[in-house]
Amino acid sequence: MSNAALAPEQDPIAFVDLKAQYQAYRPEIDAAIQTVLDHAQFINGPEVAALENALSAFSGAKHVVGCSSGTDALLMIMMAEGIGRGDAVFVPTFTFTATAEVPLLIGATPIFVDVDPDDFNIDLTDLEKKIEAVRTEGTLVPRGILATDLFGLPADYALLQDIADRHDLMLWADAAQSFGGAIGPQKVGTLCRATATSFFPAKPFGCYGDGGAVFTDDDELAATMRSIRAHGKGGAKYDIVRVGLNARLDTIQAAILLAKLPHFADEVERREKVAQAYDKALSGLLPTPVRRQGRSSAWAQYTVKVPSEKRSDIAAKLKEAGVPTAVYYPMPMHLQTAYKDLGGGPGSLPTSERLSQEVISLPMHPFLTEAQIERTSSAMRGFFPA
Ligand SMILES: Cc1ncc(COP(=O)(O)O)c(C=O)c1O
Repeated sequence: MSNAALAPEQDPIAFVDLKAQYQAYRPEIDAAIQTVLDHAQFINGPEVAALENALSAFSGAKHVVGCSSGTDALLMIMMAEGIGRGDAVFVPTFTFTATAEVPLLIGATPIFVDVDPDDFNIDLTDLEKKIEAVRTEGTLVPRGILATDLFGLPADYALLQDIADRHDLMLWADAAQSFGGAIGPQKVGTLCRATATSFFPAKPFGCYGDGGAVFTDDDELAATMRSIRAHGKGGAKYDIVRVGLNARLDTIQAAILLAKLPHFADEVERREKVAQAYDKALSGLLPTPVRRQGRSSAWAQYTVKVPSEKRSDIAAKLKEAGVPTAVYYPMPMHLQTAYKDLGGGPGSLPTSERLSQEVISLPMHPFLTEAQIERTSSAMRGFFPA
């Protein structure tokens, strides 16, 4: 076959295809944005409450509080729960920076915990060890566990709740990557006391800028977060009852998300099919993502483990074949410059340190074609002959 005949097949695959997604829903999205331009209620327009109600119906959570980003969603939870100086918040070290940054922003101390080598979520044995260690040490008060649902797979909230109850801690979810996932019939948003998600464009349920939300069944927590996102206002606009934030969700972003919501369940299903196709092509050759009984992923990423010495070569060769890859995350939080004084240094959280050298994520989005999945899979298979 000539190179010319191969050319279209070699066009770069999109790692996340936001352009294809927009084209698929263009009339609905354009109309939704136009409606906001026409009514001009750019802040706290009717689409914000409409989205919160729709997400509440979708997830089963009693309250949804829209806000300006996933990071601010985490911040609103911590502030509403009264977390602050002298408090310890247990977080996985193999996560995005926001999980560790937010406790620090309000004066609390993140305690880094190792992760499970197979599902990449917080390791329950190490978590208990770290809780005991903080209690024994005696300078910080253990207050809560902030679990990340890495790459879209919910952490084991039943076991985490058991640990939280035994140690008198609160349990929160950093579900920035997992909205759309579930454990059995219970959707992400209802798996613990308060759940933060992100609508960053590349997330499974993304808007066209920054956005986020908190899900909770707790009336008081929801009311406090509604106040916090609007500068701490009380009943009247200029009656400020607490120190708050400007953390509102833009009306245009809410309108875009409302237009996308009817397609979301179908998109999650398509992501699952992509994951199954990768599994079929690659399992047995290299460690593919684990499936945990009853837990379904939103597939923010499809992440495999490869030998660390081969990883950059694999990424380079896949790039040549038009297949982009990404490494989430090349360094765990406890080794990052800004946080390293809080952790135990290299070797202290060995699983996360090893994973950061071994993981590589393949293109994952609902618009991948069979041919693109096969191109990615066969480029990977080239490194792992059966
Ligand atoms: C695990 C995790 N937590 C928090 C965030 C923060 O979300 P945002 O970018 O919307 O602030 C992200 C986003 O990348 C994330 O992946």
